[in-house]
Amino acid sequence: MSLFRKKIIDPNAGSEDENPHGGQSLTKVLTVRDLTFFGIAAILGAGSFSSLGGAVFNGGPGVIILFIIVAVACGFTAFCYSEFASRIPIAGSAYTYAYVSFGEMFAWIIGWALLMEYSIGNIYVAYSWSDYFTSLMEKCGVHFPEYLSTSYMEAKKAMLKYISDGTANKELMLAWQSAPTIGGLKMIIDIPAICINALITYLVYRGVKESRNFSNIMVILKMIVVVIVILVGGYLVFSRGLVFNWHPANTEGEHLFMPNGFKGIMLAVSGVFFAYIGFDAVSVLAEESKNPQRDLPRGMIYSLVICTVVYILLSLVLTGAVDYKKFDGVGDPLAFIFEKDNLNLGWMQFLVAICAVIAMSSVLLVFQMGQPRIWMTMSRDGLLPNKFQKIHPKFKTPSFATILTGFIVGVPLIFTDKTFVLDFTSIGTLFAFVLVCGGILVIPRRPRVKGKFHLPYVNAAYVFPVLLAGVAAYLYFYSDYFKDLSKFNYTNNPEFVSGKKSFMDMAMVQISSYIFWGVCVILAVLSIIKKYSLIPLLGLVSCLYLLTGMTKDNWAWFLAWLAIGLVIYLLYGYKKSKLAGEPKK
Ligand code: ALA
Repeated sequence: MSLFRKKIIDPNAGSEDENPHGGQSLTKVLTVRDLTFFGIAAILGAGSFSSLGGAVFNGGPGVIILFIIVAVACGFTAFCYSEFASRIPIAGSAYTYAYVSFGEMFAWIIGWALLMEYSIGNIYVAYSWSDYFTSLMEKCGVHFPEYLSTSYMEAKKAMLKYISDGTANKELMLAWQSAPTIGGLKMIIDIPAICINALITYLVYRGVKESRNFSNIMVILKMIVVVIVILVGGYLVFSRGLVFNWHPANTEGEHLFMPNGFKGIMLAVSGVFFAYIGFDAVSVLAEESKNPQRDLPRGMIYSLVICTVVYILLSLVLTGAVDYKKFDGVGDPLAFIFEKDNLNLGWMQFLVAICAVIAMSSVLLVFQMGQPRIWMTMSRDGLLPNKFQKIHPKFKTPSFATILTGFIVGVPLIFTDKTFVLDFTSIGTLFAFVLVCGGILVIPRRPRVKGKFHLPYVNAAYVFPVLLAGVAAYLYFYSDYFKDLSKFNYTNNPEFVSGKKSFMDMAMVQISSYIFWGVCVILAVLSIIKKYSLIPLLGLVSCLYLLTGMTKDNWAWFLAWLAIGLVIYLLYGYKKSKLAGEPKK
């Protein structure tokens, strides 16, 4: 009856037509190419087309370093996902992995946190999709009234900001002022966001094969346009001699690659991390893959490598084309660099807007497919009602769970806003990644099996402590990192000066950094005692490091969310779990 009872998985699961739970199976149609495409479809989206603007504003050109750090963290995590996916080739992603390594309660927590990655993340993407879609329509001469293409909360926040300091985003203010009022309530609603969510839900409901074709075409199109942006933007940065933008002046007049220091960069974690979310979504398609043990790891790692290269190049183009300070409040940074006052290339703006709409549609599609599959697995384990695993007789998709996902994304679209859902998604996903890397550390190693992915074992016993000491010594002697960490002074930081971040928000990065270094020392000692495997250990440490970039509000919301999840588990899943056995008479 333990809260930590573990699931035992047959290693051959997923290779037969029957799934290991005895339930109905999904159609096996996906190859390594499809999985790589799914990965890219999920990764390249609102992160690069929308949240990148805020990230660049915080970190300056140095945000590239954060992209590299996050890529490394995701790379290590992808290896851990791959190891798990090769051991447990059934749908469920990190949820199933946690069930095997940490036990039921952690599995439930992960399933609950993944709701933030898949469904809440899609709310952000749907809002961003709507931004680009309406501006694309505008360029085609079709005008959407602002109050029908804006979220209520965003318009309200803009109005409150205007009252407090006299400044606000013009479009949002217009939405507030022009909206009709019924019963004292402003009728502001993001119709395009709601419509795209409904359309994507319908496609996913109709079946994976149709969705796969749709998704593959979208991935090819968005890759072509992203390459054009990099080539054209890169050419203009060099030909117009704009490379000086890579070393902008800080408030003291020094020209630096990181004008706001490391703390500025760390404030961009949510936005940058969000851009990478998605490679893990590949793992939920295990049951639909022809050869999951071989293809899932490949699909994940290939898509991650491709997107990392794209991000690094995109960031260089962006920060080279325009002074980073101009990205304040810019929601469409890739189109912005081609505006009249910047690189001045109207046709590129148009192309980027089309690409953004395509890219974000494919992100929506992949996550909308992922969520029902996680629920389906949880339901098979008894942690959710049977309805969640019901498969449509004709379309062979989890029909009830798919429709419910549509509602879970669609309803909050009416009353949330972008910033909130971005932070919420990133912290939940990072938390899931921490548990996946930690899971690989604690499950017993297994012998290599020919034809299956096998995570190489490198004994971390001495390598990790030496690496940690080396990094700390480097930061101490050759950078201001530790000096910065000891100073609780933010008068140089634009987010603090503009009042966007409070003193506590800024201090949180430092406090969590102290905790981070403490945990690292403990892990160094444990790695000597337990001879941990180096790759998952580095994955764990790098994800923990990214968590230090979260603000106090992110933590507060996240912990409240976890608490609600735990109550639901104790009231339902704990009793109904397949592992609970027969109740005593
Ligand atoms: N990485 C995905 C995006 O950027 C979630 O839209």
